[in-house]
Amino acid sequence: MAMYSETIPLHAIMICYPLQGHINPFTNLAIKLASKGFTITFVHTQHVHQLITKAQPEETIDDEVDIFSEARKSGLDIKYITISDGLPLEFDRDLNFIQYMESLIYDFPSVVDEFVGNLIDSDHSRSSTFLIADTFHSWPVRVSRKYNLVNVSFWTQPALVFTLYNHLDLLKENGHIPFRGDPEEIISCVPGVKLMKMKDFMSFFLDSDLSTIVHKIFFQAFEDVKKADLILYNTVEEFEHEILSALSQKQPGFAIGPLCATVLTNNRVSRSLWSESDCSHWLASMNPGSVLYVSFGSLAQLDEHVFVEIAQGLLLSKMNFLWALRPGIVKSENDLKSECAKLSDDSEGRGLIVPWCPQNDVLSHHAIGGFLTHCGWNSILESIWWRVPMICYPLLGDQLTNRKLVVDDWKIGINLSDGEIVSREEVAEKVKRLMSEKSSDGLRKEVQQVKKILDDAIAQKGSSQENIKSFVRELKAEMH
Ligand code: UDX
Repeated sequence: MAMYSETIPLHAIMICYPLQGHINPFTNLAIKLASKGFTITFVHTQHVHQLITKAQPEETIDDEVDIFSEARKSGLDIKYITISDGLPLEFDRDLNFIQYMESLIYDFPSVVDEFVGNLIDSDHSRSSTFLIADTFHSWPVRVSRKYNLVNVSFWTQPALVFTLYNHLDLLKENGHIPFRGDPEEIISCVPGVKLMKMKDFMSFFLDSDLSTIVHKIFFQAFEDVKKADLILYNTVEEFEHEILSALSQKQPGFAIGPLCATVLTNNRVSRSLWSESDCSHWLASMNPGSVLYVSFGSLAQLDEHVFVEIAQGLLLSKMNFLWALRPGIVKSENDLKSECAKLSDDSEGRGLIVPWCPQNDVLSHHAIGGFLTHCGWNSILESIWWRVPMICYPLLGDQLTNRKLVVDDWKIGINLSDGEIVSREEVAEKVKRLMSEKSSDGLRKEVQQVKKILDDAIAQKGSSQENIKSFVRELKAEMH
């Protein structure tokens, strides 16, 4: 095992998963650890780097785009390196998403192996080096064992979702998987998880076919993570105490969230994969709390009829809205550009539609009064952080499980469709309910309370601060 030395800073090689919902917490973690004195070698794939570069406003591209250049100027020791993901750069990953995912399982590991090997060979003071890789990867244990590195797995979603994936065998033994078709079926066998229903299970396992590439990713990743030395979770202990404590019986893990609280101010280089539209002027012209922010994240797609119902529902509600409508988000044969232009016209100035925005800047704006979200975990943490209550419309994966936390457990959001087909009337009714001060008073009070939990967790002596210290202690102990 690489040895810890008091005289050399801890050096993390950080390899994230090349999707936006993973890149954001990973970059925040890099900044957090660097601000605690770690040296970081942060690795992106060349493809992600290319997307980030293309997404920068022209005036900011001088030399090579480096997402940590500002961090370095403020004294943080972060190197930024790019490697291949195993596919040629010109390969269309959007069009061939399955092949892209396959390449991350089959081709990327040998690229990482070679990269880590070369880095270790050229680093003569390697004694304090260790690896932090996204839990979604299938290779970290193999690579870290080969090079004698402590292996830290970083989980970017709630601990509830982690433990459900981690207990797939138990869920199979208890007959929950493959799914038998009853969304009301109760799961009670997972340690630390209070009764939950199959309808709140991650969508990938609400299917009888468990042989797709997505299943392979989860089966392999969760075989691998069982052998990881340490686990970091982007959540807070107070949210998921029983689950985290059950998990820690098996493996040392540390809840160190919310990482969205770790943002670098004045960062000129954004880590977004799409160009961010500046919405600040439009928002500044709106009354406080009067705008609904709408986004369905970076991955999931909407059916065309759902898009139409949501768009018409927003118009029907007569509320102001800012919709970040990512290119390609709607599964459609038709050109939606004209639909979007029409939606914008029909809203008579009440609606702004942009492809992508700086979400934290938007959520923090005083004009924002609610968030219609797909329940990606980052979006949920960010919405709580900026005290914005939610309308939940989960689309895939963990989003279904995250919805349960927001609506059923914490009561800081309302459901859009309760599993039914969404209609414009319901959209309008829910939007009005969320945006009216009177009817959303309870939600707003709750979101303040939940935000306080986040504030307390990252305050001095707060759980996440203490957990970071424990993590560093354990890490050093692993290296001895
Ligand atoms: C994916 C999965 O869909 C999600 O369920 C999982 O928890 C993480 O990976 P994604 O769709 O990317 O997530 O959603 P989310 O987790 O909310 O992350 C999106 C990130 O992109 C957020 O940090 C958000 O701030 C950012 N974003 C989104 C923008 O900066 N601008 C936008 O216009 C939209």
